[in-house]
Amino acid sequence: MEYYQTITLKDGATCVLRNGAAKDGPSMLEFFLLTHGQTDYLLSYPDETDKTAEEEAQFLQDKTESADEIELLAEMDGKIVGSAGIGRVGTTEKVKRRAEFGISVDKNYWGLGIGRALTQACIACAKSAGYAQLELDAVADNERAIALYRSAGFVEYGRNPRGFHSRLTGWQTLALMRLELY
Ligand SMILES: CC(C)(COP(=O)(O)OP(=O)(O)OC[C@H]1O[C@@H](n2cnc3c(N)ncnc32)[C@H](O)[C@@H]1OP(=O)(O)O)[C@@H](O)C(=O)NCCC(=O)NCCS
Repeated sequence: MEYYQTITLKDGATCVLRNGAAKDGPSMLEFFLLTHGQTDYLLSYPDETDKTAEEEAQFLQDKTESADEIELLAEMDGKIVGSAGIGRVGTTEKVKRRAEFGISVDKNYWGLGIGRALTQACIACAKSAGYAQLELDAVADNERAIALYRSAGFVEYGRNPRGFHSRLTGWQTLALMRLELY
C-alpha cells in the first residue's frame, strides 16, 4: 500500500508520514536497531537482529506492492523518527479479516504527536484494506502506549502474564487489545 501525509506536530514542526520504500532499507534498519535499544517494551533486542539492509529494503518493497499491508514511516528533515505498520494475521478465510498493528517512535521524539498520527494513519489504511479488526499486544505497564491505544478506540480483551521475558525485569504481562473497524 502507498500513503503520504504531511502533519504539523505539537511543537509546530513538520513531519511526513509515508510508506517506506526499498530505498529506505538502510535507514529503516538503523532506526529499528535504535528503537529496540531504547525501551524494554518491544519484541526483541538489537543484538538478536540479523537482518540486513537489503532484506529490510525487500521487506519495504513487498509492503509497498501489497494490497493490504503497509509499513509507514515518520520522517523529519529526511530522518526517520517513527514507524508503524499493519500486517495480515493470515490468509485463510477464517482469519483474513484480522490485521496486526505495531509501532515505535525514536525516544528523542516522544510526546510530539507522532505516535498518535501514525496510529490514526494505520487505522485508516486497515479500513481501506477492508480489515474488520486491528489487533496488538502491549506490555501492560507500557502506560504511554496503552493510553494511546485506548484513546484510539482499542479495548483490552485479555492478558498473558508470561508474554515476554525481559533481560532486565523477568516476566512481562502482555495486554491483548483489539479495535473493531466495521
Ligand atoms: C508508544 C509510542 C509509540 C508513543 O509515541 P509518541 O510519539 O510519544 O506518542 P504521542 O506523542 O502521539 O502521544 C500519544 C499519547 O500517549 C499518551 N502519553 C503521552 N505521554 C504520556 C505519558 N508520559 N504517560 C502516559 N501517557 C502518555 C497520551 O495519551 C498521548 O496522547 P495525547 O498527547 O493526545 O494525550 C512511543 O512512546 C514508543 O515508541 N514507545 C516505545 C516502543 C513501544 O512501546 N511501542 C509500542 C509497543 S506495543
